[in-house]
Amino acid sequence: MLKVKDLTVNYGVIAAVRGIDLNVKAGTIVTLIGANGAGKTSTLNAIVNSVKKSGSVVFDGIDISKMATHKIVKHGLSLVPEGRKIFINLTVEENLRMGAFNNDEDFENLRNVVYDKFPRLKQKINQAGGTLSGGEQQMLAIGRALMSKPRMLMLDEPSLGLAPKIIGEVFEIITELKNDIPILLIEQNAFAALKIADYGYVLENGSITLSDEAQNLLGNDEVRAKYLGG
Ligand SMILES: Nc1ncnc2c1ncn2[C@@H]1O[C@H](COP(=O)(O)OP(=O)(O)O)[C@@H](O)[C@H]1O
Ligand SMILES: [Mg+2]
Repeated sequence: MLKVKDLTVNYGVIAAVRGIDLNVKAGTIVTLIGANGAGKTSTLNAIVNSVKKSGSVVFDGIDISKMATHKIVKHGLSLVPEGRKIFINLTVEENLRMGAFNNDEDFENLRNVVYDKFPRLKQKINQAGGTLSGGEQQMLAIGRALMSKPRMLMLDEPSLGLAPKIIGEVFEIITELKNDIPILLIEQNAFAALKIADYGYVLENGSITLSDEAQNLLGNDEVRAKYLGG
């Protein structure tokens, strides 16, 4: 579904992503794990062309390496950004409407699908985004991304700042989404991510140092020592 080859991002003299390859197959969750500053967000931003990059990105058979970000979204690849970036002064419903900018005629249907997936949001339709809990804001950010009718979803650190119990809840929803669309999950929380992923890549200093079935990475001594607390 997504094929990334030799992806490179430089910010001036800083080499943030150093020629990485990664693949996401239909029907799977793939995770890219790495410490703070490893280059995870830069990788996602490069895939959707919101930072300058080199390398090739093919999504569903089409080369999107040079495509404008809004066209990439329209083409079916949607990103839930780091820090959620919901509109804090807009209501839950208005936030969802912003996500449907490409599909305004389908708004009601799409919205109902999202409310079915996130009953908690349905209870808070008219509440301002900024007054939701962290977990609810993450659900809203995911719901908003789904309003663009994506054929693949990329999530940048959805667990950030959430209590363990809420991480479990959000990750359960992400696991359910896999039945509909493939997911690229970027995480610093390697344990939570590898538990729900099919395949994983380890990013260190802009390079992929390990990649394997998620189960194998969970059992890998080096991964355990570095990312899973031994
Ligand atoms: N806009 C930018 N300008 C300069 N350096 C940046 C910029 N964004 C990120 N970096 C640097 O690139 C590296 C990778 O950052 P980032 O992709 O945000 O990592 P991660 O998401 O894994 O924490 C870091 O060293 C960071 O300081
Ligand atoms: Mg990041």
